Amino acid sequence: MPVTVIVGCQWGDEGKGKIVDYMSSKMDVVARYQGGNNAGHTVVINGEKYVLHLIPSGILHDAVVSVIGNGVVVDLVGLVKEINEIEGNGFEVEGKLLISEQAHVILPQHGILDRARETSLGAKKIGTTGRGIGTAYAEKMARRGIRACDLRHKDTFVRKYREFGAYCNEVLTKFFGVEAVDVEAHLEELLKCGERLKPMLSDTVTYMNNAIASKKNILAEGAQGVLLDVDFGTYPYVTSSSPAPGGACTGLGISPRHINNILGIVKAYTTRVGEGPMLTEQKNEVGERIRKEGGEFGATTGRARRCGWFDAPAVRRAIQVSGCTGIVITKLDVLSILSEIPICVGYETPSGRTNLLPFDVSDIDQCKPIYETMKGWECDLSHVREAGKLPQPAIDYVLRLQELMGVPIDMVSVGPDRRQTLAFGK
Ligand code: GDP
Ligand code: IMO
Ligand code: MG
Repeated sequence: MPVTVIVGCQWGDEGKGKIVDYMSSKMDVVARYQGGNNAGHTVVINGEKYVLHLIPSGILHDAVVSVIGNGVVVDLVGLVKEINEIEGNGFEVEGKLLISEQAHVILPQHGILDRARETSLGAKKIGTTGRGIGTAYAEKMARRGIRACDLRHKDTFVRKYREFGAYCNEVLTKFFGVEAVDVEAHLEELLKCGERLKPMLSDTVTYMNNAIASKKNILAEGAQGVLLDVDFGTYPYVTSSSPAPGGACTGLGISPRHINNILGIVKAYTTRVGEGPMLTEQKNEVGERIRKEGGEFGATTGRARRCGWFDAPAVRRAIQVSGCTGIVITKLDVLSILSEIPICVGYETPSGRTNLLPFDVSDIDQCKPIYETMKGWECDLSHVREAGKLPQPAIDYVLRLQELMGVPIDMVSVGPDRRQTLAFGK
């Protein structure tokens, strides 16, 4: 079993962290391939909650090597903080975490620019996490980025940082009309972080390919979700990377021929944080009940997540570009509060019915969800430990989702804990 990719098939926060942690007991390597500390992956072990932003969720397992791939953007200050927190919780990081030397770094100015841009957009903002993700990837593509390998050469790093700092100040003061940043004020902390991370820098491409050659079990952990993918999501209301499984190849330096499992993580309903279309959103009392019951508040920014019904055409689009071999349905337990559960099965559009989320947001705006309603089960699922023991209406709901997605459901999750994970359909 060489490489399994875990991919979110909605707008993020599907419960990827929980499933990565659950699967990590059988893994040798867990690798993040894209995104940065815009991600918030929650793992609950024996009632203790851990939120990971940049470090792969496999870090909580002694026998797993965690890799931050070249496709990730690494916030130097954020990563050191996260390592300290994880170590403070009694987990080993040093010797178990490898950081790609080709990964681009996020500096304080990336976040400042991201937030300045959002403020200037006003009502048209994207609703980013403000972590500088888009600005860091933009610099990478413009071939002006600073990479982790630059930390090895202090003079080079300092020169590039000062050049970037001066450029940012031009943009901040002349374009956004805000205050300049004191470039030197951040330098000492950045150099300290660089020293801390230097021993973890590695040729992770060779590491990954050697692990594949020696038949190690490898999990590639996607962040965000396919509907936030810069190519396939609801552009421009997307993130700036490629969460879709193709991103695992470019973000880790591995060939597509080594990927043999693609596990799509799908919440039993829909959530979204930030701006952008969400056709099944319930801006009403029922949406609020779901938010409360599901604890739908961002793991990174604390923002309330928008909540709504399962949107089959949206998930089908994510599955179309991902080629999922199996699906995990998460948070089924949250729907126990409802006596009836609508599912969006298609959209009405001016040119007829469609079963796929369009790419163009102006076309999405023309879509009206078509719902069918399933019977609820109205009882607690959190203690169920076998799929066969789920109440019949819950089984019927999951089977209907499976039919609409056209991919077998391998697991169903009924709570945040590792133990609340049920094998399905086998
Ligand atoms: P990720 O970004 O995809 O890793 O997801 P997040 O961690 O941001 O959000 C998922 C939230 O749901 C976390 O608080 C998890 O602890 C929680 N969670 C995951 N699976 C389940 C589940 O099956 N039921 C419930 N009630 N909570 C879950
Ligand atoms: P995980 O990995 C949910 C959203 C932001 C915003 C858009 C762009 O925990 O599922 P960015 O800061 O990336 O430029 O913001 O993407 N977003 C997420 N939404 N879960 C995430 O990560 C997200 N990461 C970014 O809210 O709408
Ligand atoms: Mg999250």
